[in-house]
Amino acid sequence: MEHSLKALQEKALKEIAGANDIDALETVEIQYMGRAAGELTAILKNLKDVPAAERPRTGALANEIKQDIEAQILERREALLAREENESVFDVTESYVPRRESGTLHPTTQIQYELEDFFAAMGFRIIDGPELESDFYNFSALNIAPDHPARDMQDTLYIKDHPTWLMRTQTSSVQVRAMREYGAPLQAIASGRCFRNEATDARHEHTFHQLEGFVVGEDVSFAHLKGILDAVARHLYGEDTQVRLRPKYYPFVEPGVNGEVTCSFCAGGGCALCKQTGWLEIFGAGLIHPHVLKEGGLDSKKVSGLAFGFGLTRLAMLKYGINDIRLFMSADMQFLKQF
Ligand code: PHE
Repeated sequence: MEHSLKALQEKALKEIAGANDIDALETVEIQYMGRAAGELTAILKNLKDVPAAERPRTGALANEIKQDIEAQILERREALLAREENESVFDVTESYVPRRESGTLHPTTQIQYELEDFFAAMGFRIIDGPELESDFYNFSALNIAPDHPARDMQDTLYIKDHPTWLMRTQTSSVQVRAMREYGAPLQAIASGRCFRNEATDARHEHTFHQLEGFVVGEDVSFAHLKGILDAVARHLYGEDTQVRLRPKYYPFVEPGVNGEVTCSFCAGGGCALCKQTGWLEIFGAGLIHPHVLKEGGLDSKKVSGLAFGFGLTRLAMLKYGINDIRLFMSADMQFLKQF
């Protein structure tokens, strides 16, 4: 009996040491210690058949062996678990895949999102319009007839074989679309890409971003327009910022204004950026022309409207002190990584 116990112990310890993963170890454990059919369990159960004189000695040895096997299983399990853990952290056989660089939002997009949040908080609906637009929404509906000289200043890209299609020159193209879709009252902003046929240089680019805003409803007045523009200017450049509006002609507003804010770099004192004027021109605005309301399906005797447009690209240039507009479309990582 003693002899077979020792042989069993030796065999068990060898198998425990040879178990290469948790599953194999469990199989070994069941083989020797299993309640129903474990080899050691069977011996312990049969102790009663051992002659009474030998029983205490054999019993003590069997218990010692049981404890030894249990301790060895525990130790091996810990070693295997530790190895598994290490392997999941560092696997030398894993092939090397370079980490992908994560990008950042484009500076124009950052300003767009910031202003969208600001207008949404004031109750504006955020809408969208197509970049490939019809001549009608981009020009005619905005009171710019086919022979109107204002078209010369907004030459754009036309689509071959589609004489009435063009790449929109301004987000104002969304005005009549939105009026037709939502009617009045409506307060909405639409931002996105605009296109013009430009000879590019540091200040001119064929593709740029604008943000358009408009409100239509009963008794919408110039005071509302001024209030909104004041709020935007303070939001962008701080509480002390002043807004200056000067008459400017846009065919789709009446009256129309050109909007400036106190230069944020020199606080109005005059510097190179504001060309010594103390003011930075950042938007066009006005009260929506009755012709535009009519094209939008609205009765200009019952409702009035205001509209304004910001050059988002220009706002980004001013905010970050970017002196060449061509950088925006350059996809130059050294430029983009700065934001
Ligand atoms: N769409 C005009 C531009 O691109 C700006 C503008 C928008 C002016 C709304 C008046 C009202 O220059």
